[in-house]
Amino acid sequence: APTRREDYRPPEWLVPSIDLDFDLGAERTLVRSRLTVERNGAEGAPLRLDGENLTLLDVRVNGAPADYALDGDMLIVEGVNSGDSVETTVAIQPAANTQLMGLYASGGILCTQCEAEGFRRITFFPDRPDVLSRYTVRMSADKALYPVLLANGDPVGSGDLEGGRHYAEWNDPYPKPCYLFALVAGDLQANRDRFVTQSGRTVDLGIWVRPEDLPKTHHAMAALKASMAWDEKVYGREYDLDVFNIVAVSDFNFGAMENKGLNIFNSRYILADPDTATDADYDAVAGVVAHEYFHNWSGNRVTCRDWFQLSLKEGFTVFRDQQFSADQGSAAVKRIEDVRALRAIQFPEDAGPLAHPIRPESYIEISNFYTATIYDKGAEIIRMMHTMLGGEGFRRGTDLYFERHDGEAATCEDFVKAMEDANGVDLSRFRLWYAQAGTPRITASLRHDDAAGRAHLTLEQAVPPTPGQDSKQPMPVPLKVALFGDLTGEKYADRLIVLEGVAQEVIFDGIGERPILSINRDFSAPVIVEADRSAGDLAFLSANDDNPFARYEAMQQLMLDTLLGAIRNGAADSGPVTEAVRRTLSDPNLDPAFIAEAVLMPSEAFIGDQMEMVDPNAIHIAREALRADLGADLERLWRDLYAATTANRFEYSPAAKGARRLRTVALSYLMAGGAEDAAALARQQFDAADNMTDRQGALGVLVNSDAPEREAALAAFYDRYRGNALVIDKWFSVQALSTRPDTGAVVKALADHPDFTLSNPNRLRALIGGFAANQCALHVADGSGYRFLADMILAVDKLNPQTAARLVPPLGRWRRFDADRADKMKAELSRILAADDLSKDVFEQVSKSLG
Ligand code: ARG
Ligand code: ZN
Repeated sequence: APTRREDYRPPEWLVPSIDLDFDLGAERTLVRSRLTVERNGAEGAPLRLDGENLTLLDVRVNGAPADYALDGDMLIVEGVNSGDSVETTVAIQPAANTQLMGLYASGGILCTQCEAEGFRRITFFPDRPDVLSRYTVRMSADKALYPVLLANGDPVGSGDLEGGRHYAEWNDPYPKPCYLFALVAGDLQANRDRFVTQSGRTVDLGIWVRPEDLPKTHHAMAALKASMAWDEKVYGREYDLDVFNIVAVSDFNFGAMENKGLNIFNSRYILADPDTATDADYDAVAGVVAHEYFHNWSGNRVTCRDWFQLSLKEGFTVFRDQQFSADQGSAAVKRIEDVRALRAIQFPEDAGPLAHPIRPESYIEISNFYTATIYDKGAEIIRMMHTMLGGEGFRRGTDLYFERHDGEAATCEDFVKAMEDANGVDLSRFRLWYAQAGTPRITASLRHDDAAGRAHLTLEQAVPPTPGQDSKQPMPVPLKVALFGDLTGEKYADRLIVLEGVAQEVIFDGIGERPILSINRDFSAPVIVEADRSAGDLAFLSANDDNPFARYEAMQQLMLDTLLGAIRNGAADSGPVTEAVRRTLSDPNLDPAFIAEAVLMPSEAFIGDQMEMVDPNAIHIAREALRADLGADLERLWRDLYAATTANRFEYSPAAKGARRLRTVALSYLMAGGAEDAAALARQQFDAADNMTDRQGALGVLVNSDAPEREAALAAFYDRYRGNALVIDKWFSVQALSTRPDTGAVVKALADHPDFTLSNPNRLRALIGGFAANQCALHVADGSGYRFLADMILAVDKLNPQTAARLVPPLGRWRRFDADRADKMKAELSRILAADDLSKDVFEQVSKSLG
């Protein structure tokens, strides 16, 4: 039965403190836990503790054997009073834990993942985020296997024991919910550094990795220190413990985890050096390090009352990490990347069977709600408040929020209330953004009255129906708008319009020439805008708008209109796109990183999202044809840019990154345009590269081609990086993302490669996740792609349900395809649903996808 938001009740028992004692071993770990409990609700209610997969050995109350029963997974202890001490002893098996939730083993390291409901797989406890406790932890383990023992908070004791064992004790003074608990035991070494906070306290920093990975931790350390300083400067938030540790592990279900004082990371978001990490990887490392660090305030000091409030900490923290990254480099390029990701994942989610508001009403399995909607749309909703209140007003709101709720488990409502109270504004209608799913559609039409020198902008909004929400109310939509004169290019108006109702007319006076509309500048609202602008107007904006995001957007819209026209009519006039791209490429004032983003074509999947019925082959053909035209017509320019962006020696700077980005884009257009030497250039780039960005860029271009250099480059790449798991992931994913017609067969063969494994989430995402996101490859007409994906989902579900469930959404797009494909997709979803022992993770995603 689903859990419902309206059913929230405060906990019947609180647990002010917990003492944990771990006798660690990979095969078997003993966990003794002593809770001090306090009654919070009705007299007489027994103490109920969550548990999962635990072997219960003993239960005591105040030292005496207790009166208890097991109700399913729940432990029920009778006769407990406020102030009592409740002790349990359980045994668990970390090495057998393939779900990677709770305590598990990753490459000889023992580590934990508790969010959302993993702590119950470690010990019996009220596993809900509104029960906050002070933790002390004692661990003992074999000293040779596990020389390093870490937990939350500050270290308070350690020493040797008999039989080659040792112990460590940790104490976390800040009450926290159990999802923030963590421990790590392993053969690790630390990159150590220090940070002095604004009030002068010294914090010892440690990034713990396998000894051989130590040289790859410097970028993460620099990002950590930058994040600590940034949160002080921008939000006034200071770190609060004497130590801050990060551990990198190879087997991890998602990016990273913000456990108090002991963040645990997927190693792909820590390890980086020029030879193995791309510039995008470097950016992702910094972004995730910042994200987890920022959770210390937005998530840990102020946590969530229940899991329906997840976006309270995630949406806000994503917004904070986006701001941080924007401040580190090009804000415009960062915004473009974030919007591209939102449109690639969140928009389809919002338009499909799994659509949910950022504050959902119900769930079967909360792990399924760590979505682009909760995270990324959640961040957009925070951003809209920032836009409407201004930077200072927003800061007044966050100050009040942190002050009011420090040490508490709060709600999304608390956040909005703090924004209102700190600024004296009314956000009643804005709250609808938390409650309504679906991406609003805004129709904008501009009319010019020449004689009166007046422009009329008519805005209308419609929020589409989504599962369980048939009719919607209009929401306040903040739209940054500007008008440009057609003749003079002059900017006439630049304002923030908040569309409040279903429709609104806005008047601009003093407009003496035909105005061109620039709207949703900076992507000020997470909406789809239909503005019906001519190719000429879009070309004008792509060359002249002073808002870089709007400039990018105009080019994308121009490309999209051209591509959709080509798909409809069988052929397109690529002239306007070519001219717009030519102007962008030749503009000496533009940042190369921006140019690279602007001239990139919309993805096949994104083009599909704009169509009533997705035709994957027609999309592919039209897109490749336009790429070929651009490549050939602008060959001289691509060549010049390619030559101009060739660097002698690797440097990690925004300028050098931008040059590398543009270089590979130029290479890919040369290849698309059929330049005779393109494959040779790619192979040369591949061989000469002193960094992964250039090497992987060249490989990506070759992998889409039929050139003989293709196989050789793949083999050379594999040989060079054999044994480096993170780079071999790239080798798998670059093949899974290939646009070649044989990709399905290649992926199936790679699934039998000795380096492929279902048990490592990174490897799985690289090959199967890549394939599932590859529209052309997944949707081959014979349905073999669907069958393969469904087989993988079923196989992974036996090991790791959370990761299996993440592979389901591409099959849920069946409503958007022709009847033949739709039937085949539904048949595979039904086959999954019929399987024995399906996890509730996969059950929820598949049953909702079938509708
Ligand atoms: N809180 C973590 C983060 O945002 C992610 C935890 C994901 N948990 C899950 N069950 N999917 O950084
Ligand atoms: Zn987070």
